[in-house]
Amino acid sequence: MDGSLGAGGYAEAILEVSSPDGRLLGFDLDEESISRTQARLQTYGERFRCWHAGYHQAVGILGSVGVDRVDGIVIDLGLSSDQLEDTNRGFSFRYSSPLDMRFDRTQGKSAEDLLIDLSETELERIIFEFGEEPKARKIAQRLKEAVKRGILTNTHELSNIVLKSVGRKRGKIHPATRVFQALRIAVNDELSNLRRGLEELPGLLNEHGRLCIVSYHSLEDRLVKTIFKDLARQVEKWKVVTRRPLRPSLEETRTNPRSRSAKMRVIEAL
Ligand SMILES: C[S@@+](CC[C@H](N)C(=O)[O-])C[C@H]1O[C@@H](n2cnc3c(N)ncnc32)[C@H](O)[C@@H]1O
Repeated sequence: MDGSLGAGGYAEAILEVSSPDGRLLGFDLDEESISRTQARLQTYGERFRCWHAGYHQAVGILGSVGVDRVDGIVIDLGLSSDQLEDTNRGFSFRYSSPLDMRFDRTQGKSAEDLLIDLSETELERIIFEFGEEPKARKIAQRLKEAVKRGILTNTHELSNIVLKSVGRKRGKIHPATRVFQALRIAVNDELSNLRRGLEELPGLLNEHGRLCIVSYHSLEDRLVKTIFKDLARQVEKWKVVTRRPLRPSLEETRTNPRSRSAKMRVIEAL
């Protein structure tokens, strides 16, 4: 099972190595990714099947089609390059886009709705916790002011307000990066979905089946580490395969800079 299909890079690789009869079941919250990947991987016929749904909903969906066990699960968290570069989605401050940021555009509140609905204190907490941004209070205050004046409707405005609140760009990371990340995590309820996935998905694994999670954010990695550790207390049932998370090689970070912060942790059902 691939819990976050995206463009289907992992899925295709798994289908190739599990040839001729391995099956891959895929999920993604993004309807457009699902249709594109479904069309692209059509050549694999019945070996590939996918759903427009979250990995955190997979147990129920697979149960309804008679699948109660799988041999392996991979979840590559975060957002895809296609999403980041889509000028209509609002994930990047490099383009002027509407403030959407939803993985699933068929439901839920957009980042703009969230900025309107949240109180200043709630917004501050999100920016501080999910963005690990020390100047969260000032940013939240300025953002709420801009919302009230009706001047916060696209990603460039958001990015400019953050820049004005924290001062000039220092170091390599643009100051708006953390705020965009925080809002995206909140809009998509990413940590609750991850928690639910980590609680439910291990139960799907066959003997010696593995659950692999690739995360890009310290809060996600911490959650994965803690829940895997808790499971591994039942020593006869679970084994943490990665004592330390696997990191990309220097060569990989050169050819694929977005892999820079990736950490992969793996647990195995005994
Ligand atoms: C980093 S990309 C995956 C890229 C993929 N490994 C590939 O080879 O192309 C992350 C994907 O996870 C999806 N996603 C985020 N949260 C999800 C969830 N709870 N359930 C399913 N998909 C999710 C996003 O829509 C995005 O397409």
